[in-house]
Amino acid sequence: MHCHILPGLDDGPKSEQESIQMLKLAKKQGIRGLIATPHHSHSYRQAGPRQIEELCRSLEKKAQAVIEPGFRIYPGQEIFYSEDVPEKLEKKEILTMAGSQYVLTEFLPGAPYSAIERAVRELTHAQYTPILAHVERYQALREGDRIEELAEFGACMQMNYRPIGGKWYSETTRWCRAVLKEGLIDFLGTDMHNTGTRQPETLKALVWMEKHLDNDYIQDIIYRNPGKILKNEKL
Ligand SMILES: [Fe+2]
Repeated sequence: MHCHILPGLDDGPKSEQESIQMLKLAKKQGIRGLIATPHHSHSYRQAGPRQIEELCRSLEKKAQAVIEPGFRIYPGQEIFYSEDVPEKLEKKEILTMAGSQYVLTEFLPGAPYSAIERAVRELTHAQYTPILAHVERYQALREGDRIEELAEFGACMQMNYRPIGGKWYSETTRWCRAVLKEGLIDFLGTDMHNTGTRQPETLKALVWMEKHLDNDYIQDIIYRNPGKILKNEKL
């Protein structure tokens, strides 16, 4: 539910051929559907909703032909937050996740807590459910009970698979594992961008998770909760 799979839009794959290669790698790891989330930010403003939806349809068609007949690709966006985002969502100038009320939102890694909290309040006030993209990136969320606090305000938390499968001495890996053990994460994403350094990488994370987390919780964060986005249901 967080990946850069559409060709030529942002810092994701350069060609449809590379997209298909990424999908093949993902399929090998058990992924049979995804929400494409190209960046919406100052650097990548050009893609409009219609273009994203069309690219999803055409890539899904290819994927169904060469990967698996039932493979699904839903449109979404990873939206760099600014105060005009609620209005742009309202005017349908940018995309929610698969047509739901969920909005995948990102910030600068050094964003202050007050900015993240304000974004959560503005989005929930406008009746959206913010999903904070790769929560492990924001230093401000590592202090105290900030993840819990934002969840109380109505935010959902997405973590990338990759750092969960990292080395035990990495501070980020240790933080990721600790918050997973507390059950504070709602979604996992590959955040795949290409077939090289940012290809889909779920297996190392799953090995750790199967050893340390309840199977029911694993099913929620990798399968059932993303299903609720597709049905536009609350978690
Ligand atoms: Fe991303």
